[in-house]
Amino acid sequence: MKKKKYRKMNKYEKRQTALLICIAAVIIALIVWIIYFILSDADDIENNSSPADSSAYSQTEAASAENTSGDTASEPEQDTEPTTEEARFAIENKNGMTYIDGILIANKSYSLPSDYDPGESSEALDAFYEMQADASDEGLNIYISSSYRSYEDQERIYQNYCDTDGQEAADTYSSRPGFSDHQTGLAFDLNSIDDSFGYTPESDWVSANCHKYGFIIRYPKGKEEITGYQYEPWHIRYIGVDKAAAVYESGLCLEEYLGIDSAYKE
Ligand code: DAL
Ligand code: ZN
Repeated sequence: MKKKKYRKMNKYEKRQTALLICIAAVIIALIVWIIYFILSDADDIENNSSPADSSAYSQTEAASAENTSGDTASEPEQDTEPTTEEARFAIENKNGMTYIDGILIANKSYSLPSDYDPGESSEALDAFYEMQADASDEGLNIYISSSYRSYEDQERIYQNYCDTDGQEAADTYSSRPGFSDHQTGLAFDLNSIDDSFGYTPESDWVSANCHKYGFIIRYPKGKEEITGYQYEPWHIRYIGVDKAAAVYESGLCLEEYLGIDSAYKE
């Protein structure tokens, strides 16, 4: 068989060939890089689909809501799987107290240690005085009738109500010791502390304006099943202006807004 003879490439052809090889190498490298990029991106999406990894929820800060009752401080659990609702806001468990979105929670599900004794918050009081002055400019008189209550104060008050009305009734309007919003030092009862307050211009003004000063109506009308308490138009709770405005705009009570419940674990 006749052997095929190849002609030697000239200098120009050699350069052309080298250039083509280089271009091919660059194209192959580019294709490999694109495939790698697509695959690693798909991995990231898969990993981020769990609420535990969302930026709104820090796993190191995650704590089980179930473990917050009682008087002893407990460390955040590292491997708690949050529910979708819990993942909406960061939950922090510090010294036996639960903060959700930075708000100290005291309700039937989240207790405070019996020795938590912060007194009345001066920040909340300053905000109240500012609100009181503005209400006064409109001819309205609002004043604080009940403020900070220690564990022992609440123990006495709750027991009195139980003795008078029975525990079932008392639980609808008075907190058990360790579960009262008043023990946070951030809650105030205004004026007459009874249903008649709800029919006064002061009550209307407070409910329409208190968020501008950082307060929310803690136990709104129609939310009794969620807050665990009867409507209390007189009970305001300081959570700061931005958060109070957000809760007000949402039309939700604090529990709904934060995605938590309020029920004693009897
Ligand atoms: N009246 C509210 C629920 C309290 O006792 O703290
Ligand atoms: Zn109150």
